[in-house]
Amino acid sequence: MKIAVLPGDGIGTEIIAEAVKVLRVLDLSFELETAPVGGAAYEAAGHPLPESTLALAKAADAVLFGAVGDWKYDKLERRLRPEQAILGLRKELGLFANFRPAICYEQLTHASSLKPELVAGLDILIIRELTGDIYFGQPRGRRTAVDGHFPGSEEAFDTMRYSRPEIERIAHVAFQAARKRNKKVTSVDKANVLETFQFWKDVVTEVHAQYPDVELEHMYVDNAAMQLVKAPKKFDVVVTGNMFGDILSDEAAMLTGSIGMLPSASLNAANQGLYEPSHGSAPDIAGKGIANPLATILSAAMMLKFSLNQPEAAARIEAAVQSVLAQGLRTADIWSEGTRKVSTVEMGDAVVAAIAAG
Ligand code: NAI
Ligand code: MG
Repeated sequence: MKIAVLPGDGIGTEIIAEAVKVLRVLDLSFELETAPVGGAAYEAAGHPLPESTLALAKAADAVLFGAVGDWKYDKLERRLRPEQAILGLRKELGLFANFRPAICYEQLTHASSLKPELVAGLDILIIRELTGDIYFGQPRGRRTAVDGHFPGSEEAFDTMRYSRPEIERIAHVAFQAARKRNKKVTSVDKANVLETFQFWKDVVTEVHAQYPDVELEHMYVDNAAMQLVKAPKKFDVVVTGNMFGDILSDEAAMLTGSIGMLPSASLNAANQGLYEPSHGSAPDIAGKGIANPLATILSAAMMLKFSLNQPEAAARIEAAVQSVLAQGLRTADIWSEGTRKVSTVEMGDAVVAAIAAG
Protein backbone atom coordinates (compact mmCIF):
# COMPACT_ATOMS: atom_id res chain seq x y z
CA MET A 1 0.00 0.00 0.00
CA LYS A 2 1.34 3.33 -1.01
CA ILE A 3 0.04 6.78 -0.10
CA ALA A 4 1.17 9.83 -2.03
CA VAL A 5 1.34 12.79 0.35
CA LEU A 6 1.04 16.18 -1.37
CA PRO A 7 1.09 19.00 1.21
CA GLY A 8 0.97 21.97 -1.20
CA ASP A 9 0.88 25.57 -0.03
CA GLY A 10 -0.11 27.78 2.88
CA ILE A 11 -1.61 25.80 5.75
CA GLY A 12 -1.35 22.68 3.54
CA THR A 13 2.03 21.77 4.99
CA GLU A 14 0.90 22.41 8.59
CA ILE A 15 -2.26 20.32 8.47
CA ILE A 16 -0.73 17.48 6.44
CA ALA A 17 2.02 17.12 9.04
CA GLU A 18 -0.66 16.42 11.66
CA ALA A 19 -2.52 13.93 9.47
CA VAL A 20 0.73 12.09 8.75
CA LYS A 21 1.43 11.92 12.49
CA VAL A 22 -1.99 10.36 13.03
CA LEU A 23 -1.50 7.83 10.21
CA ARG A 24 1.85 6.78 11.62
CA VAL A 25 0.52 6.09 15.12
CA LEU A 26 -1.98 3.59 13.66
CA ASP A 27 0.95 1.32 12.94
CA LEU A 28 -0.39 -0.01 9.64
CA SER A 29 1.90 -1.26 6.92
CA PHE A 30 1.81 1.42 4.29
CA GLU A 31 4.41 3.56 2.67
CA LEU A 32 4.06 7.36 2.68
CA GLU A 33 5.84 9.29 -0.04
CA THR A 34 5.79 13.09 -0.18
CA ALA A 35 5.99 15.28 -3.30
CA PRO A 36 5.52 18.97 -4.03
CA VAL A 37 2.33 20.29 -5.62
CA GLY A 38 0.81 23.70 -6.36
CA GLY A 39 2.82 26.86 -5.75
CA ALA A 40 5.48 24.88 -3.91
CA ALA A 41 5.97 22.73 -7.02
CA TYR A 42 5.97 25.77 -9.26
CA GLU A 43 8.81 27.20 -7.18
CA ALA A 44 10.73 23.92 -7.17
CA ALA A 45 10.08 22.64 -10.68
CA GLY A 46 8.37 25.38 -12.70
CA HIS A 47 4.98 23.60 -12.82
CA PRO A 48 2.14 23.16 -10.27
CA LEU A 49 1.83 19.46 -11.14
CA PRO A 50 5.29 18.18 -12.14
CA GLU A 51 5.60 14.87 -14.00
CA SER A 52 7.23 13.22 -10.99
CA THR A 53 4.38 14.25 -8.66
CA LEU A 54 1.79 13.02 -11.15
CA ALA A 55 3.63 9.72 -11.58
CA LEU A 56 3.70 9.23 -7.80
CA ALA A 57 -0.03 9.99 -7.52
CA LYS A 58 -0.85 7.53 -10.30
CA ALA A 59 1.23 4.75 -8.79
CA ALA A 60 -0.22 5.23 -5.30
CA ASP A 61 -3.32 3.57 -3.88
CA ALA A 62 -4.46 6.93 -2.57
CA VAL A 63 -3.42 10.57 -2.51
CA LEU A 64 -3.53 12.66 0.66
CA PHE A 65 -3.65 16.28 -0.44
CA GLY A 66 -3.29 19.44 1.64
CA ALA A 67 -4.28 22.58 -0.23
CA VAL A 68 -2.84 24.77 -2.96
CA GLY A 69 -2.86 28.43 -3.85
CA ASP A 70 -1.57 31.78 -2.76
CA TRP A 71 -2.35 35.35 -3.75
CA LYS A 72 1.20 35.79 -4.99
CA TYR A 73 0.48 33.48 -7.95
CA ASP A 74 -2.60 35.39 -9.11
CA LYS A 75 -0.71 37.00 -11.98
CA LEU A 76 0.68 33.76 -13.44
CA GLU A 77 -0.83 32.47 -16.64
CA ARG A 78 -3.68 30.07 -15.94
CA ARG A 79 -1.87 26.79 -16.70
CA LEU A 80 0.85 27.59 -14.17
CA ARG A 81 -1.42 28.59 -11.30
CA PRO A 82 -1.38 26.33 -8.23
CA GLU A 83 -5.11 25.48 -8.54
CA GLN A 84 -4.40 23.81 -11.90
CA ALA A 85 -2.73 20.98 -9.99
CA ILE A 86 -6.00 19.83 -8.48
CA LEU A 87 -7.79 20.01 -11.84
CA GLY A 88 -4.91 18.10 -13.44
CA LEU A 89 -5.02 15.38 -10.76
CA ARG A 90 -8.80 14.99 -11.12
CA LYS A 91 -8.44 14.61 -14.87
CA GLU A 92 -5.38 12.34 -14.91
CA LEU A 93 -6.72 10.03 -12.20
CA GLY A 94 -10.24 9.99 -13.65
CA LEU A 95 -11.74 11.19 -10.36
CA PHE A 96 -15.44 11.67 -11.07
CA ALA A 97 -17.18 11.34 -7.71
CA ASN A 98 -16.65 13.92 -4.99
CA PHE A 99 -17.83 12.94 -1.51
CA ARG A 100 -18.40 15.69 1.01
CA PRO A 101 -19.87 14.57 4.28
CA ALA A 102 -21.41 17.38 6.31
CA ILE A 103 -21.42 16.28 9.92
CA CYS A 104 -22.30 18.56 12.80
CA TYR A 105 -20.57 17.37 15.92
CA GLU A 106 -22.65 17.70 19.05
CA GLN A 107 -20.03 19.91 20.71
CA LEU A 108 -19.90 22.36 17.80
CA THR A 109 -23.57 23.10 17.14
CA HIS A 110 -23.02 26.64 18.47
CA ALA A 111 -20.59 27.35 15.61
CA SER A 112 -23.12 26.47 12.92
CA SER A 113 -24.88 29.17 10.93
CA LEU A 114 -28.16 27.55 11.96
CA LYS A 115 -29.98 27.08 15.24
CA PRO A 116 -28.47 24.22 17.25
CA GLU A 117 -31.68 22.17 17.16
CA LEU A 118 -31.68 22.22 13.35
CA VAL A 119 -28.15 20.84 13.05
CA ALA A 120 -27.58 18.75 16.19
CA GLY A 121 -26.71 15.28 14.95
CA LEU A 122 -26.62 16.35 11.29
CA ASP A 123 -24.89 13.71 9.15
CA ILE A 124 -25.46 14.07 5.43
CA LEU A 125 -23.34 13.16 2.42
CA ILE A 126 -23.20 15.30 -0.69
CA ILE A 127 -21.97 13.52 -3.80
CA ARG A 128 -20.96 15.86 -6.59
CA GLU A 129 -20.19 14.75 -10.15
CA LEU A 130 -16.80 16.17 -11.10
CA THR A 131 -16.07 15.63 -14.78
CA GLY A 132 -19.02 17.06 -16.69
CA ASP A 133 -21.54 19.87 -16.69
CA ILE A 134 -21.11 23.49 -17.66
CA TYR A 135 -17.60 23.60 -16.16
CA PHE A 136 -16.15 21.49 -18.96
CA GLY A 137 -18.74 21.49 -21.79
CA GLN A 138 -17.59 22.67 -25.18
CA PRO A 139 -18.06 24.94 -27.04
CA ARG A 140 -17.38 27.91 -24.82
CA GLY A 141 -15.96 31.33 -25.45
CA ARG A 142 -16.63 34.89 -26.43
CA ARG A 143 -18.05 36.16 -29.70
CA THR A 144 -20.31 38.69 -31.28
CA ALA A 145 -23.95 37.77 -30.75
CA VAL A 146 -25.91 36.99 -33.91
CA ASP A 147 -29.24 36.62 -32.08
CA GLY A 148 -30.61 36.93 -28.53
CA HIS A 149 -31.63 40.18 -26.90
CA PHE A 150 -28.67 42.23 -28.12
CA PRO A 151 -27.52 41.02 -31.55
CA GLY A 152 -24.22 42.56 -32.62
CA SER A 153 -23.00 42.98 -29.05
CA GLU A 154 -20.14 41.08 -27.36
CA GLU A 155 -21.26 37.94 -25.51
CA ALA A 156 -19.82 34.96 -23.61
CA PHE A 157 -21.18 31.42 -23.45
CA ASP A 158 -20.58 28.02 -21.82
CA THR A 159 -22.19 24.69 -22.62
CA MET A 160 -24.01 22.54 -20.08
CA ARG A 161 -23.84 18.86 -21.04
CA TYR A 162 -23.91 15.41 -19.49
CA SER A 163 -23.51 12.05 -21.21
CA ARG A 164 -25.49 8.96 -20.20
CA PRO A 165 -22.44 7.04 -18.88
CA GLU A 166 -21.39 10.03 -16.78
CA ILE A 167 -24.79 10.17 -15.10
CA GLU A 168 -25.07 6.40 -14.76
CA ARG A 169 -21.78 5.98 -12.95
CA ILE A 170 -22.41 8.77 -10.44
CA ALA A 171 -25.93 7.44 -9.83
CA HIS A 172 -24.49 3.99 -9.05
CA VAL A 173 -22.01 5.57 -6.65
CA ALA A 174 -24.82 7.41 -4.87
CA PHE A 175 -27.11 4.38 -4.54
CA GLN A 176 -24.24 2.22 -3.32
CA ALA A 177 -23.27 4.85 -0.76
CA ALA A 178 -26.89 5.05 0.37
CA ARG A 179 -26.96 1.30 0.95
CA LYS A 180 -24.19 1.73 3.50
CA ARG A 181 -26.13 4.55 5.20
CA ASN A 182 -29.85 5.20 5.55
CA LYS A 183 -30.97 4.02 2.10
CA LYS A 184 -32.21 7.36 0.84
CA VAL A 185 -30.97 9.42 -2.10
CA THR A 186 -32.05 12.92 -3.10
CA SER A 187 -31.13 13.69 -6.71
CA VAL A 188 -30.91 17.43 -7.26
CA ASP A 189 -31.64 18.87 -10.70
CA LYS A 190 -33.26 21.71 -12.58
CA ALA A 191 -35.34 19.49 -14.84
CA ASN A 192 -38.11 22.05 -15.11
CA VAL A 193 -35.87 24.39 -17.09
CA LEU A 194 -32.79 22.53 -18.38
CA GLU A 195 -32.73 19.70 -20.92
CA THR A 196 -29.42 18.49 -19.44
CA PHE A 197 -31.08 18.01 -16.06
CA GLN A 198 -34.27 16.45 -17.43
CA PHE A 199 -31.90 13.88 -18.93
CA TRP A 200 -30.08 13.63 -15.56
CA LYS A 201 -33.40 12.94 -13.82
CA ASP A 202 -34.42 10.32 -16.43
CA VAL A 203 -31.12 8.45 -16.21
CA VAL A 204 -30.97 8.53 -12.39
CA THR A 205 -34.53 7.14 -12.33
CA GLU A 206 -33.52 4.32 -14.71
CA VAL A 207 -30.48 3.38 -12.60
CA HIS A 208 -32.66 3.43 -9.49
CA ALA A 209 -34.55 0.39 -10.84
CA GLN A 210 -31.48 -1.65 -9.83
CA TYR A 211 -31.69 -0.39 -6.23
CA PRO A 212 -35.28 -1.07 -5.12
CA ASP A 213 -34.17 -1.09 -1.48
CA VAL A 214 -33.09 2.56 -1.71
CA GLU A 215 -35.60 5.39 -1.66
CA LEU A 216 -35.10 8.00 -4.42
CA GLU A 217 -36.44 11.54 -4.30
CA HIS A 218 -35.95 14.25 -6.93
CA MET A 219 -35.62 17.89 -5.94
CA TYR A 220 -35.07 21.11 -7.87
CA VAL A 221 -31.85 22.84 -6.95
CA ASP A 222 -33.51 26.06 -5.79
CA ASN A 223 -35.71 24.09 -3.41
CA ALA A 224 -32.71 22.01 -2.26
CA ALA A 225 -30.87 25.24 -1.40
CA MET A 226 -33.83 26.25 0.77
CA GLN A 227 -34.36 22.86 2.38
CA LEU A 228 -30.66 22.65 3.34
CA VAL A 229 -31.13 25.59 5.68
CA LYS A 230 -34.72 24.85 6.64
CA ALA A 231 -34.52 21.16 7.51
CA PRO A 232 -31.07 19.79 6.65
CA LYS A 233 -31.57 16.58 8.63
CA LYS A 234 -34.24 15.45 6.16
CA PHE A 235 -31.45 14.69 3.68
CA ASP A 236 -29.18 11.69 3.77
CA VAL A 237 -27.30 11.19 0.48
CA VAL A 238 -27.60 14.05 -2.01
CA VAL A 239 -26.34 13.45 -5.57
CA THR A 240 -26.02 16.22 -8.12
CA GLY A 241 -24.05 17.66 -11.01
CA ASN A 242 -20.81 19.56 -10.95
CA MET A 243 -22.07 23.13 -10.61
CA PHE A 244 -25.03 22.53 -8.28
CA GLY A 245 -22.77 20.29 -6.19
CA ASP A 246 -20.10 22.96 -5.96
CA ILE A 247 -22.59 25.44 -4.55
CA LEU A 248 -24.66 23.11 -2.34
CA SER A 249 -21.62 21.49 -0.77
CA ASP A 250 -20.31 24.89 0.34
CA GLU A 251 -23.75 25.74 1.68
CA ALA A 252 -23.82 22.46 3.60
CA ALA A 253 -20.32 23.19 4.94
CA MET A 254 -21.67 26.25 6.75
CA LEU A 255 -24.27 24.14 8.56
CA THR A 256 -21.54 22.28 10.37
CA GLY A 257 -19.61 25.04 12.10
CA SER A 258 -16.21 25.37 10.46
CA ILE A 259 -14.78 24.56 7.09
CA GLY A 260 -11.79 23.43 9.15
CA MET A 261 -13.78 20.33 10.16
CA LEU A 262 -14.83 19.10 6.72
CA PRO A 263 -13.07 16.30 4.87
CA SER A 264 -13.62 15.28 1.26
CA ALA A 265 -12.83 12.45 -1.10
CA SER A 266 -12.70 12.28 -4.88
CA LEU A 267 -12.87 8.77 -6.27
CA ASN A 268 -12.39 7.04 -9.60
CA ALA A 269 -13.88 3.81 -10.92
CA ALA A 270 -11.13 1.77 -9.26
CA ASN A 271 -11.78 3.34 -5.84
CA GLN A 272 -8.47 5.06 -6.08
CA GLY A 273 -8.95 8.44 -4.51
CA LEU A 274 -7.71 11.85 -3.63
CA TYR A 275 -8.46 12.92 -0.06
CA GLU A 276 -8.30 16.53 1.03
CA PRO A 277 -9.89 19.00 3.40
CA SER A 278 -12.74 20.99 1.85
CA HIS A 279 -10.97 24.24 2.56
CA GLY A 280 -8.13 25.91 0.69
CA SER A 281 -4.63 27.02 1.65
CA ALA A 282 -5.87 29.85 3.93
CA PRO A 283 -3.00 32.26 3.24
CA ASP A 284 -4.49 34.62 5.84
CA ILE A 285 -3.55 32.26 8.70
CA ALA A 286 -0.67 30.30 7.12
CA GLY A 287 2.48 30.01 9.21
CA LYS A 288 0.74 31.00 12.44
CA GLY A 289 0.21 27.48 13.72
CA ILE A 290 -3.51 28.02 14.30
CA ALA A 291 -5.13 26.13 11.40
CA ASN A 292 -7.56 23.37 12.30
CA PRO A 293 -6.04 20.04 11.18
CA LEU A 294 -9.20 17.99 11.81
CA ALA A 295 -10.58 18.25 8.25
CA THR A 296 -7.35 16.75 6.97
CA ILE A 297 -7.19 14.12 9.71
CA LEU A 298 -10.79 13.14 8.90
CA SER A 299 -9.86 13.04 5.20
CA ALA A 300 -7.17 10.52 6.12
CA ALA A 301 -9.90 8.48 7.83
CA MET A 302 -11.99 8.58 4.65
CA MET A 303 -8.93 7.40 2.73
CA LEU A 304 -8.52 4.40 5.02
CA LYS A 305 -12.19 3.54 4.58
CA PHE A 306 -12.69 4.05 0.84
CA SER A 307 -9.34 3.33 -0.81
CA LEU A 308 -7.26 1.30 1.64
CA ASN A 309 -9.87 -1.09 3.00
CA GLN A 310 -9.09 -0.27 6.64
CA PRO A 311 -12.49 0.67 8.07
CA GLU A 312 -11.44 -0.15 11.63
CA ALA A 313 -8.46 2.19 11.49
CA ALA A 314 -10.77 4.88 10.08
CA ALA A 315 -13.17 4.37 12.97
CA ARG A 316 -10.30 4.74 15.44
CA ILE A 317 -9.45 8.15 13.97
CA GLU A 318 -13.08 9.28 14.00
CA ALA A 319 -13.50 8.19 17.62
CA ALA A 320 -10.30 10.05 18.55
CA VAL A 321 -11.61 13.25 16.94
CA GLN A 322 -14.85 12.92 18.90
CA SER A 323 -12.80 12.38 22.01
CA VAL A 324 -10.64 15.51 21.65
CA LEU A 325 -13.77 17.58 21.02
CA ALA A 326 -15.37 16.06 24.12
CA GLN A 327 -12.22 17.00 26.07
CA GLY A 328 -12.96 20.61 25.11
CA LEU A 329 -9.93 21.15 22.86
CA ARG A 330 -10.54 23.66 20.08
CA THR A 331 -8.49 25.41 17.43
CA ALA A 332 -9.29 29.11 17.00
CA ASP A 333 -11.91 28.57 14.26
CA ILE A 334 -14.13 26.45 16.54
CA TRP A 335 -13.23 27.96 19.89
CA SER A 336 -15.97 29.19 22.22
CA GLU A 337 -16.19 30.37 25.83
CA GLY A 338 -15.35 27.58 28.25
CA THR A 339 -13.25 25.50 25.84
CA ARG A 340 -9.46 25.30 25.60
CA LYS A 341 -7.78 26.95 22.63
CA VAL A 342 -5.02 24.81 21.11
CA SER A 343 -2.60 25.15 18.21
CA THR A 344 -2.50 23.02 15.05
CA VAL A 345 0.27 20.86 16.50
CA GLU A 346 -1.42 20.50 19.91
CA MET A 347 -4.62 19.37 18.22
CA GLY A 348 -2.71 16.78 16.18
CA ASP A 349 -0.91 15.59 19.31
CA ALA A 350 -4.23 15.27 21.15
CA VAL A 351 -5.69 13.09 18.37
CA VAL A 352 -2.56 10.92 18.44
CA ALA A 353 -2.86 10.61 22.23
CA ALA A 354 -6.56 9.71 21.99
CA ILE A 355 -5.77 6.97 19.45
CA ALA A 356 -3.02 5.62 21.67
CA ALA A 357 -5.35 5.70 24.69
CA GLY A 358 -8.29 4.13 22.83
P1 NAI B 1 -9.85 28.99 2.18
O1 NAI B 1 -10.66 27.78 2.40
O2 NAI B 1 -8.40 28.81 2.04
O3 NAI B 1 -10.11 30.02 3.39
C1 NAI B 1 -11.40 30.55 3.68
C2 NAI B 1 -11.45 31.04 5.14
O4 NAI B 1 -11.50 29.89 6.00
C3 NAI B 1 -10.18 31.80 5.56
O5 NAI B 1 -10.56 32.83 6.44
C4 NAI B 1 -9.34 30.79 6.27
O6 NAI B 1 -8.49 31.33 7.25
C5 NAI B 1 -10.39 29.88 6.89
N1 NAI B 1 -9.90 28.48 6.97
C6 NAI B 1 -9.73 27.62 5.93
N2 NAI B 1 -9.25 26.45 6.38
C7 NAI B 1 -9.09 26.58 7.70
C8 NAI B 1 -8.62 25.69 8.73
N3 NAI B 1 -8.19 24.44 8.46
N4 NAI B 1 -8.60 26.15 10.00
C9 NAI B 1 -9.02 27.37 10.30
N5 NAI B 1 -9.49 28.24 9.38
C10 NAI B 1 -9.52 27.85 8.09
O7 NAI B 1 -10.45 29.72 0.90
P2 NAI B 1 -9.96 31.06 0.15
O8 NAI B 1 -9.45 32.04 1.13
O9 NAI B 1 -11.06 31.39 -0.76
O10 NAI B 1 -8.76 30.60 -0.78
C11 NAI B 1 -7.38 30.65 -0.40
C12 NAI B 1 -6.54 29.95 -1.44
O11 NAI B 1 -6.85 28.56 -1.43
C13 NAI B 1 -6.80 30.41 -2.88
O12 NAI B 1 -5.56 30.47 -3.55
C14 NAI B 1 -7.69 29.35 -3.45
O13 NAI B 1 -7.60 29.25 -4.84
C15 NAI B 1 -7.17 28.13 -2.76
N6 NAI B 1 -8.12 27.01 -2.68
C16 NAI B 1 -7.58 25.75 -2.84
C17 NAI B 1 -8.37 24.64 -2.72
C18 NAI B 1 -7.71 23.31 -2.86
O14 NAI B 1 -6.50 23.21 -2.70
N7 NAI B 1 -8.44 22.24 -3.11
C19 NAI B 1 -9.81 24.74 -2.46
C20 NAI B 1 -10.27 26.10 -2.23
C21 NAI B 1 -9.43 27.18 -2.36
MG1 MG C 1 -16.44 25.38 -4.21
